[in-house]
Amino acid sequence: ANIFQSINERTFLAIKPDGVQRHLIGEIIRRFEKKGFKLVGMKLMQASEDLLKEHYIALRDCPFYSHLVEYMRSGPIVAMVWQGLDVVKTAYAMIGETNPADSRPGTIQGDFCIEVSKNVIHGSDSIESARREISLWFHTDKLTCWADSTEHWIY
Ligand code: PPS
Repeated sequence: ANIFQSINERTFLAIKPDGVQRHLIGEIIRRFEKKGFKLVGMKLMQASEDLLKEHYIALRDCPFYSHLVEYMRSGPIVAMVWQGLDVVKTAYAMIGETNPADSRPGTIQGDFCIEVSKNVIHGSDSIESARREISLWFHTDKLTCWADSTEHWIY
C-alpha cells in the first residue's frame, strides 16, 4: 500500500451515552482533530436495539452482552468516521485499554473514566471491524471526501 492509499484509512468511533451526558463530546473530538485526523462523518443519534445487537454481534455469548446493549441505548451517542494514516491503530491507542483501570493517563479512558461498563468511547479494533462498523452505522456514499488544505503539513 502506498501513502496515498493509507491516508484514506477510516475508523469508526462512537462517544457513548455517558460521554455525551458528561459533556465530553468537544474534548474527545478535539483530541482526534489536533492529532491531524480528518472527520468525514458524524451524527448524534439514539441507536436502536437492532443496530446495537448487530454492532456487538461478536459478543452475543458474553454475560454482559444485554447490559452493554442497554447501556448503549440509554441515551444519545455520537457516531463518527475518522480518516487518516493508520487511524484504526492510532485511534485505538488514543482511546486506551478496554478496561479503564489498565489505561494510561493521556488516553481517553485513562483520563475520563473508571470502569469498563461506563467507558465513554468505542473504537474499531481492526481494519476489518472498522469496515464492518462504518457500513453498519453510515451510508458510505454519504461520507464526506473534503480536501483539507492543511494536509500537506501533516503528511
Ligand atoms: S476487545 O478489545 O474487543 O478485546 O474488548 P472486549 O474486552 O472484547 O470488549 C468488547 C466490548 O465489550 C465491553 N465490555 C464490557 N461491557 C460491560 N461489562 C463488562 N464487564 C465488559 N467487558 C467488556 C467493552 O467496553 C467493549 O465495548 P466497546 O464498545 O467495543 O468498547
